[in-house]
Amino acid sequence: QMYVASTTAPVNIAVIKYWGKCDTKLNLPTNSSLSVTLSQSDLRTHTTAACSPTFTENRLYLNNEPQDVSGARQQACFRELKALRKKLEDADPALPKLSEHNVHIVSENNFPTAAGLASSAAGFAALVRAIADLYELPDSPTDLSRIARQGSGSACRSLFGGYVAWEMGAAADGSDSLAVQVAEASHWPTMRAAILVVSAAKKGVSSTSGMQATVATSELFEHRAKHVVPKRMAAMKKAVLERDFESFAALTMADSNQFHAVCLDTMPPIFYLNDVSRASIRVVEEINRVAGRAVAAYTFDAGPNCVVYYEEANEALVLGALRRYTAGVAGWEAQEVAASVPEGF
Ligand code: DP6
Repeated sequence: QMYVASTTAPVNIAVIKYWGKCDTKLNLPTNSSLSVTLSQSDLRTHTTAACSPTFTENRLYLNNEPQDVSGARQQACFRELKALRKKLEDADPALPKLSEHNVHIVSENNFPTAAGLASSAAGFAALVRAIADLYELPDSPTDLSRIARQGSGSACRSLFGGYVAWEMGAAADGSDSLAVQVAEASHWPTMRAAILVVSAAKKGVSSTSGMQATVATSELFEHRAKHVVPKRMAAMKKAVLERDFESFAALTMADSNQFHAVCLDTMPPIFYLNDVSRASIRVVEEINRVAGRAVAAYTFDAGPNCVVYYEEANEALVLGALRRYTAGVAGWEAQEVAASVPEGF
């Protein structure tokens, strides 16, 4: 007998970046962060979870490749979800004892993996939701976000649509380090995101090891975590709630730039942006200069690919300028401008 559940989870792109851990075991961040969940029609992970008494081990396949499930992150997710299932089974002896079975997970991304397009976020969010669905857990997305966080920090934010904060929390056991929705996508229906795929190649330095090096060596990082991000979190929530695009854009660009400055301040320095990334920054700055106000905002994660936020009314202006520009650029390996509306589940 086999039990099966399938789900999809979206990618989220942070506008206030998570970078740095104060507890690598529990995956607790040194600062809170805030992201926008992108449309699942463009970027998503589809995951099926199955369990059966005949499975002799846990298995995980990503894009048809077998993955290591012995890692602490996967183990933490399996363990916590099984514990929640076990509680249900203890309370209701009629339930099948799924917590005693091994699990097989099959995941597929419809976008390049580990190219700085938040694949681990969608991946772990989908894994946690698929197993939670398989186990018929009554837990809320915020409850599940605590588990997804232990898979990959940014994954906790992919359990919600719209605008999502990962509150760093204060508890030593990580119980209050979780994701909450700031606003539904429908709160700001005119918001759009374009993704410029500068390179689909795997990134050189993984987020996990990059942020560890930053914590160990950067003084600028300490200043950012203590004195800059708390103010920006409050300002970003206000900008979202008031649908104030100019403030949203200014904060988004400043925070992306500071995150990459902190990477440069790391020893040895980490370079995620390349010449094409820097050129796209100049194009967006030029679009905003000509418009006389911020109508577009760029942001980059741990890779060279550019995400541009803008409002629907400025779509022709922003995408037109980006397309005109990208058409003439040598070294734009793969170019793709996908407009998408952030959405919920
Ligand atoms: C630059 O969530 O991939 O995208 O917790 O070690 O898995 P781990 O890191 P990860 O880091 C994401 C970093 C970022 C910024 C962000 O998404 O907030």
